[in-house]
Amino acid sequence: MNLPNLNEARKRTNKEILIKTNEYIVKENLKELGLGKKYYIKTYGCQMNVHDSENIKAILEDMSFEETTDFEDADLILLNTCAIRENAHNKVFGFLGRVKHLKESKPHVISGVCGCMAQEENVVNEIRTKHKWVDIIFGTHNIHNLPNILFDSMTRKEQEIEVFSIEGDVIENIPVKRDSKYKAWVNIMYGCDKFCTYCIVPYTRGKQRSRTPEYIINEVKELVKQGYKEVSLLGQNVNAYGKDLNIDYKMGDLLRDVAKTGIERIRFMTSHPWDFDDDMINAIKEYDNIMPYVHLPLQSGSDRILKLMGRRYTKEKYIELYNKLKTNIPNVSITTDIIVGFPGETEEDFNDTLDVVSACKYDSAFTFIFSPREGTPAAKMEDNVSLEEKEQRLYKLNELVNEYANQANQRYLNKITPVLIEGVGEKGNLFGYTDTMKLVNVDGDSKYIGKIVNVEITDIKTWSLDGIIKED
Ligand code: 5AD
Ligand code: SF4
Repeated sequence: MNLPNLNEARKRTNKEILIKTNEYIVKENLKELGLGKKYYIKTYGCQMNVHDSENIKAILEDMSFEETTDFEDADLILLNTCAIRENAHNKVFGFLGRVKHLKESKPHVISGVCGCMAQEENVVNEIRTKHKWVDIIFGTHNIHNLPNILFDSMTRKEQEIEVFSIEGDVIENIPVKRDSKYKAWVNIMYGCDKFCTYCIVPYTRGKQRSRTPEYIINEVKELVKQGYKEVSLLGQNVNAYGKDLNIDYKMGDLLRDVAKTGIERIRFMTSHPWDFDDDMINAIKEYDNIMPYVHLPLQSGSDRILKLMGRRYTKEKYIELYNKLKTNIPNVSITTDIIVGFPGETEEDFNDTLDVVSACKYDSAFTFIFSPREGTPAAKMEDNVSLEEKEQRLYKLNELVNEYANQANQRYLNKITPVLIEGVGEKGNLFGYTDTMKLVNVDGDSKYIGKIVNVEITDIKTWSLDGIIKED
């Protein structure tokens, strides 16, 4: 048993990061462990988790398990969890209740919790004491060892917990079963060393570790060969890419090299304003296949709160960068993340946030009420703002954000714009995204799925566009 330890997770040393190319092994006797058995994975949270689930699926299939999308039909149920806010926690414990119920009628079902919540000491303690029936818990640094964890759990019949609280290495040989045939997630780095005071990620995901350019570029070249149209380069803080490698190679260089593979669309997320350098902007400008879309979290528009958050930029510096992006990258769309109700946020601080939103007129924004995360500095800060007040601020902020999102969408009306058609939506229509990451609903034939087609925008909604296909 390896339990998570917050103090260990907080540590950052100069220990060299190892690139491990044979760490993932499925022993011969485990290759058929899942024969005749089905697995179901429920994924919470960000794209990083979505991609981890793609790895977990491939590992389980290496052990002969088969996927099912009906959890009642599964022999193995895994919850890949998110720790970013309290409501993510609540959802997971809510779903665990359903799994417990299922296990009452199907006791052979194996249940497991993995992902960021599994890295949290308090969560694991809660599961150990109150949910003893959960069979396995494994952390974000332990995914490659899933075959052995499962085997131990199945043979020993006791709760199996394997969570390392380490800075982390880079494991290069984990297989992947991608959800899409057209767009792919590609990790370019793991972890985060920014330690924004509200954020749990540096504790759950470890030290910043960039993958080497060679591994990334080879992965993208392989995707091009397989017919993929789009890659999203993933990291908690992609602008800091390469800073931990002892080579003179940064995010701008990586963007150019990925662009040269010929993949039709490149996206990257998430950016931190602190590390966004001019060379990155130039790279986006130089290559048509780097999409004009930047997610640039603001978090707060108040210098006082930004300082308490440990964000290392001011409102002025943020707006300067924002304007530089807008003037240098034609047609760029910019979205953001904003937290309201950070401990001690005054009406004046909140108004500063509204001011920045009005100055930037974002294409869209994800807005959140501050949620204290155990072990982070902000969780201990005095917070005298009532929840009611925070909810009112969120409401007011959302109204403003929606107004600008709507305005931004108006730009597209009656224009023709390229859309990568991804699939069939709930109402039977096709859907896809523009280069600027606008969701578009289109009437049309399924033959267009997986293709980039020109679409004329015929109607505008706040969160999506409607259109018709203009070519064959
Ligand atoms: N409370 C509320 N929102 C948070 N985020 C991160 N941590 C917290 C927290 N403790 C938000 C930030 C981040 C996004 C992914 O989630 O805005 O950019
Ligand atoms: Fe969290 Fe800040 Fe790192 Fe983003 S940059 S993952 S908000 S600590």
